[in-house]
Amino acid sequence: MTKIDFTGRTVIVTGAGGGLGRAHALAFAARGACVVVNDLGGDIAGIGSSVSPADDTVATIRAAGGRAVANHDCVLDGERIAECALDEFGRIDVLVNNAGFLRDVSFARMSDEDWRAIIEVHLNGAYKVTRAVWPHLQAQRYGRIVKTASAAGLYGNFGQTNYAAAKLALVGFARALSLEGASRNITCNVIAPIAGSRLLATVSTPERMAALRPELVSPLVLRLCAEANTETGSVFEVAGGWMAKLRWERAAGVAFDPSTDLTPEAVDAAFDEICSFARADHPGTVREAAAPVIANIARLPKAQ
Ligand code: NAI
Repeated sequence: MTKIDFTGRTVIVTGAGGGLGRAHALAFAARGACVVVNDLGGDIAGIGSSVSPADDTVATIRAAGGRAVANHDCVLDGERIAECALDEFGRIDVLVNNAGFLRDVSFARMSDEDWRAIIEVHLNGAYKVTRAVWPHLQAQRYGRIVKTASAAGLYGNFGQTNYAAAKLALVGFARALSLEGASRNITCNVIAPIAGSRLLATVSTPERMAALRPELVSPLVLRLCAEANTETGSVFEVAGGWMAKLRWERAAGVAFDPSTDLTPEAVDAAFDEICSFARADHPGTVREAAAPVIANIARLPKAQ
């Protein structure tokens, strides 16, 4: 087993003033990384700001002999976070997009502002920091990125249409980015964690909160950010010491003759089979996904 070490590497962790981000930052620092501890320090609904959370994480890292700098910018100011890393440590190797908050409310009662704020922090915030670090990763032909999604995005969750939309968007973002980074040794993966942070405190018991230690999530993040990592474009669920990779499963489906007039009644008659996973595959790329479509239209007579 090779020891995973980040000596000489600079790691940016957004939202590292508490919960999962703090655990990631401490874990990276304990293995030699120079860590940019970004945190705006607002409340669980993203209201307000404070320097204390980021400063506290940095103080903890330094007290243990590690190297870290605090950054108090909003993730929407991605350029400033990247600049902080370059000014302090001279390089950027790893980015963990983690910052975020919740505005849970049923869709009927959701305001435009609840929708906008969640898309801003989770999706646009992840975009802005990634956009700022990307040229540096490309130029040095090396980078490791982990984005933080949620089971709410993967499976849906009542009262979280805004959050679910933003979180699943990160999966598409990461998978597409993994393809663009592949030729330059830049990997990009996604975790969907559960952790006993303040975000979970509103819906969980103290016992469960204690069991779901954020420190049980960070080792997967470090593994995905290791120099030897080749895993990319993947999604992992991780919580309470359990972790597993996810993939799409697609029913074998039904191939109607594309030369005939297809009716809704024909679709209805075949609907159970369209939805049956008795035979299924696991397409991993757009090309693999399109294969049955290409095969089906190949049945059409060739134009003369
Ligand atoms: P947390 O509230 O403890 O930590 C989030 C941190 O992000 C806070 O310290 C906050 O100040 C910071 N932050 C918020 N908005 C920011 C902004 N605009 N710029 C910079 N920093 C900002 O919450 P937790 O649970 O550690 O969440 C971390 C990530 O994990 C979030 O993206 C969350 O959606 C995700 N997540 C957490 C789950 C859980 O069970 N705790 C479940 C699924 C996903």
